[in-house]
Amino acid sequence: METKQQMTVVDEQLKSPESMPMRVGDVQVLSTEFERDRFGHEYTVRRVHVEDESDANPEMRDMYNQQADILELSLRNNPQWGQTVIKDGKVNVPVENKAAQWLYYDEGQPTQSFEWATKFPTAIALEPLQRLEDGGRWFKLGHSDERSIALYTYMSDAIGLRSRAHIYSQRLVEYAEDSGVDELSILSLGSGAAVPNIEATRKLEASGKAVNWKFFDFDPKALMFARELIDENKFQFSTFDYGPEWINPDNGKVEPKGQFYQRAFKMEDESVDVVDALGLWEYLKPHEAIDFAKKLFEKLKPGGSLIVSNMLPSRPHREFNQRAVGWPDLHLRNETDLLNIVANAGIDTKQVTMTHAEDGVYVVMEITKS
Ligand SMILES: C[S@@+](CC[C@H](N)C(=O)[O-])C[C@H]1O[C@@H](n2cnc3c(N)ncnc32)[C@H](O)[C@@H]1O
Repeated sequence: METKQQMTVVDEQLKSPESMPMRVGDVQVLSTEFERDRFGHEYTVRRVHVEDESDANPEMRDMYNQQADILELSLRNNPQWGQTVIKDGKVNVPVENKAAQWLYYDEGQPTQSFEWATKFPTAIALEPLQRLEDGGRWFKLGHSDERSIALYTYMSDAIGLRSRAHIYSQRLVEYAEDSGVDELSILSLGSGAAVPNIEATRKLEASGKAVNWKFFDFDPKALMFARELIDENKFQFSTFDYGPEWINPDNGKVEPKGQFYQRAFKMEDESVDVVDALGLWEYLKPHEAIDFAKKLFEKLKPGGSLIVSNMLPSRPHREFNQRAVGWPDLHLRNETDLLNIVANAGIDTKQVTMTHAEDGVYVVMEITKS
């Protein structure tokens, strides 16, 4: 039987949400501070803990991290090793690159990661890393094998992808609560398979809110996949605009054609609550990012938010990501790089909040319009 003291503890826990156990996807703010960088930009930095699937087994996560640390070191010590090249459905893994060989081969046989790299066009590749239970949608085997599940659960890249999506969806919920807006209007640029957007819609609809989404992505396959995932969710109140459509002559069906994010520049000024770009800025050159910030900040209603993420140069296992996985040619940016973009776009950096999760892979930057 429970003692009175035990019951009081439970009662207190129920009354105080901070002491409630966290669920996967919950974001807990550890600190919020005003900072000034060496160029005098003033801005806010938030550090957060994001509850992740990998928290269920921290020993296993440590083990995978140690393994990744060793592979990272071997890549740094061997700059002459060639890098993995993924192109047109082909994966070229240099024989001498031991880190890439570890990822893509097991006892001479291609691993499921090899299949992942060959089959998945860009944004779709991110889905099984974010929705672990769904990893097998595209695999011959019909599910992710044990090795893939372990990689997707414990490797820093996958943890970072999930934490940025959770930070983003949490911010949208807070935005809806604080602004009192019941029906948010959001432009999602480089929306890909829309995994973070789906998570946000689920959370918002659960709190009685709705979103009118407009997706901008030039990859029709990613948009088709986003539509498939969204249809499965059977959202009740939200709407989804995938951009221009065409009739695919191969199957006679109406499908999204894809569009460049610059199409959003034509939207009416001060017409949307949020503009997001998760995973797109790494592909933009500095002048493109400045143009993006300047033009799309104008689309926000007063009080609205521009939310982008960027991979950090200080991220763990950077060489592994670029030379073993084969994800090169990204523009990694630190806080000062991002603040320079904001300042060059004519926006006051005091409106910026940088959110960092403990995994250290991405920063999520939010610029609020006063
Ligand atoms: C890394 S994915 C991010 C997907 C999604 N936002 C997420 O966080 O899961 C980047 C997406 O940007 C799209 N993209 C890249 N350059 C683009 C451009 N100029 N116009 C439209 N989409 C673009 C790619 O097709 C890809 O789907």
